[in-house]
Amino acid sequence: MKITMIGTGYVGLVSGACLAEVGNDVLCLDLDQRKIEILESGGIPIHEPGLLEMVKRNRAAGRLHFTTNVEKAVTWGQVQFIAVGTPPDEDGSADLKHVVAAARNIGRYMNEYKVIVDKSTVPVGTADAVRAAIGEELAKRGDKTPYAVVSNPEFLKEGAAVEDFMRPDRIVVGAEDERAAHIMRTLYAPFQRNHDRLILMDVRSAELTKYAANAMLATRISFMNEMANLAERLGADIEQVRRGIGSDPRIGYHFLYPGVGYGGSCFPKDVKAVIKTAADAGMKLEVLHAVELANEKQKGVLVDKILKYFGENLSGRTFAMWGLAFKPNTDDMREAPSLVIAAELIRRGANITAYDPVAMDEAKQAFGNELKLRYAASPLAAVEGADALAIVTEWKEFRSPDFAALKTKLKQPVIFDGRNLYEPADVRAQGFEYFPIGRK
Ligand SMILES: NC(=O)c1ccc[n+]([C@@H]2O[C@H](COP(=O)([O-])OP(=O)(O)OC[C@H]3O[C@@H](n4cnc5c(N)ncnc54)[C@H](O)[C@@H]3O)[C@@H](O)[C@H]2O)c1
Repeated sequence: MKITMIGTGYVGLVSGACLAEVGNDVLCLDLDQRKIEILESGGIPIHEPGLLEMVKRNRAAGRLHFTTNVEKAVTWGQVQFIAVGTPPDEDGSADLKHVVAAARNIGRYMNEYKVIVDKSTVPVGTADAVRAAIGEELAKRGDKTPYAVVSNPEFLKEGAAVEDFMRPDRIVVGAEDERAAHIMRTLYAPFQRNHDRLILMDVRSAELTKYAANAMLATRISFMNEMANLAERLGADIEQVRRGIGSDPRIGYHFLYPGVGYGGSCFPKDVKAVIKTAADAGMKLEVLHAVELANEKQKGVLVDKILKYFGENLSGRTFAMWGLAFKPNTDDMREAPSLVIAAELIRRGANITAYDPVAMDEAKQAFGNELKLRYAASPLAAVEGADALAIVTEWKEFRSPDFAALKTKLKQPVIFDGRNLYEPADVRAQGFEYFPIGRK
């Protein structure tokens, strides 16, 4: 099938490459010339495991193409995916300007039946807005070409995005047009050969499903963070509590890890957006307000521990920071807790030497010209001469460090672990002072 992917970011590039991988002819459009140049020269603009190889393979096979030419992109695919960004507006609502611009472009140039698929995370009612924008553009040209607008929210996780797209837990399709629903079934058949995972529903329910999923996951995180803080206060161990509750199949083990608060390009903005959607509908979402508040507080927990140990004034102190990306296996720095933690340490006078396996280039852009933040070439180089180590992202390479070497490089053997990577008794037995989250 000929497919157009509008927006070639984390979602669009992964979706485009995976759809090409199963034999489709995919053209990815982006207005960002730099991204398209990187892709055309054989690279990829983001870090995502397995993606570079897949993009190369499908380009070489002639099934995956890139362009900045809007007209070419619109005339290309019978299916037009909209996978552009939906960043938060000032009032917390999802800013739909990119989605609507993409829809208008489709209406401007389409000349045969098309299925327009909202893959971006968009508030309930957006499919109607997309349908209207396309209709208006068609009307300007006096064109009556039929089209259908479908909601197909994306559930891939950065860091495992290729795997998630190729082997999805579920594919949610909101479609009220039979022809479009059939096309979507055909398109997704290769990704669910052992059993049907496509859940067909009405468009509004599909739109809300995505927000409900992210809101639920954010809730689990904030809940566990509060429990961890309580465990710490009461002398209990959150890791033991986690195993105790995870064994209940109604709860399950996934997503029960306390830490330094959720970040990334989705949870923070999606929680805000669903709160705003509800407010517009005359409802206050009490639970999600609390989830957001707890998350903001949690970003300060690691710094609080550092201040308790070193005092309020950190002038002259240097901290090694392991991990900058909002989670492992990605270079995405959007809303990363490291941004807040580093900024607060620096505000209090500290210097930081940071190390992240892939996100340092992105971090340099995010932090700009911050003179008190330096970047190290390895985890050990980061701790050289530092007063303490702060662990912010749970990259695999931090899980089993050479503690003896760490001890010789640090000025004092102190670790603030925002990701609970180590067994407290073991680290302490090696002579470290160790401050994890919610552990004895
Ligand atoms: N990143 C994730 O893990 C993830 C997961 C599920 C859903 N989502 C949702 O998917 C959407 C995209 O997220 P992302 O992380 O891929 O964003 P992104 O910022 O990485 O990519 C969006 C791309 O769209 C391009 N763009 C903007 N307007 C355009 C237009 N009119 N025509 C063509 N290209 C245009 C931008 O230049 C950018 O490259 C968002 O709604 C997000 O909430 C993201």
